[in-house]
Amino acid sequence: GDLPEITVAVLTVSDKGNQGEREDRSGPALCRAVEELGYTVQDRAIVPDEKDVIADRIVKWVDEEDVHMVLITGGTGLSSRDVTPEAVMSIADREVPGLGERMRSYSLNFTDRAVLSRGLAVTRGGSLILAMPGSVRGAIQCFQAVESVIGHGLETLR
Ligand code: MTE
Repeated sequence: GDLPEITVAVLTVSDKGNQGEREDRSGPALCRAVEELGYTVQDRAIVPDEKDVIADRIVKWVDEEDVHMVLITGGTGLSSRDVTPEAVMSIADREVPGLGERMRSYSLNFTDRAVLSRGLAVTRGGSLILAMPGSVRGAIQCFQAVESVIGHGLETLR
């Protein structure tokens, strides 16, 4: 069509997924959701719960590979290995609190445990980065919570 192409990268943060000990179902589910919106999935990766590894992967996509949006699943909870929010904040220009608020408030329709996710959204340059829970349900519900406003957000950023 004549819509400008929006490119997306999907990052699964999981020690077990990275070691091949657990099948990554959230990453592929997010890819399908993104494609249903008409966006292009440019790349996908699985990394361990390591702050610097997570941050480096995002920076490469955004700064060198011109990805407009990075969707991250996993590592937003309270276990000692959960460092996704810290990794994302370490490379952020600006936080977008309303997107995190929307993800949590929408998710509360399904589970009280939504408040245990430290999921958030930030910008870096002209790109938007969203961190969502690791479960398929959590990731998809959080994506659904914000999908109606993402397009306008990305347009404004560019
Ligand atoms: N949000 C939604 N919409 N649906 C869910 O099932 N699970 C919660 C929460 N957010 C959930 C959710 C749970 S149980 C946890 S522990 C946190 O997300 C953090 O998940 P993570 O550590 O896999 O990122």
